[in-house]
Amino acid sequence: MPKGKFIVFEGGEKSGKSTQIELLKKYLETKNFQVILTREPGSKLSTITQSIREIILNNKNTNLTARAELLLFLADRSQHVAEIVQPALEQGKIVLCDRFDGSTFAYQGAARHLDLAEIKSMNNWAKYGLNPDLVLYLDIRPEQALERSRGEKHDRLDAENSDFHEAVRAAYLRQAQENKNWFTLSAIGSIEDIFQNIKKEIDKIL
Ligand code: TMP
Repeated sequence: MPKGKFIVFEGGEKSGKSTQIELLKKYLETKNFQVILTREPGSKLSTITQSIREIILNNKNTNLTARAELLLFLADRSQHVAEIVQPALEQGKIVLCDRFDGSTFAYQGAARHLDLAEIKSMNNWAKYGLNPDLVLYLDIRPEQALERSRGEKHDRLDAENSDFHEAVRAAYLRQAQENKNWFTLSAIGSIEDIFQNIKKEIDKIL
């Protein structure tokens, strides 16, 4: 069996990742690829990770420490990679994943100020060294994201202040510059135009 492909979507809140990932799944299925759609934290394909997501995003957990939060994201990732992602890749499937470790470097590293070298080493252990084949980063300015989410209910992380979300974005842009497997797309524009750009990148690696 050929090894599958691991494709990750990254981006701040309201960047339109979920819409685009659904479109990509349909597109790949019309080309007869076997595709699974999953996410971090809390893959819908794993009940254990869904329980971890509930703890992480629950607004009642106001006293969750930054270190405990990091460990929960890494526990989620470790379970997710072992239970869902690796087996699917071994079966030759395309795994589309909404967020992976780029989120940890941006949110827990840049925005929560945890030590990056320590995060990297723990993350690498947790994820069994697995790296995405391609990371599609949907870039949006935090003020524009706020416009899009007006009137919606916020979870524990969405509700962080604008400095937090600015730090997240700066860290994403840095990662996109530093990593050859990252590709940046503007999240502003029509759903169809953004999807055309995604298709171009996908066609290059398949
Ligand atoms: P979402 O599934 O609605 O995007 O929410 C997940 C939230 O968790 C989002 O605010 C980003 C955050 N997150 C981290 O802080 N670190 C991580 O490693 C991951 C995967 C997500």
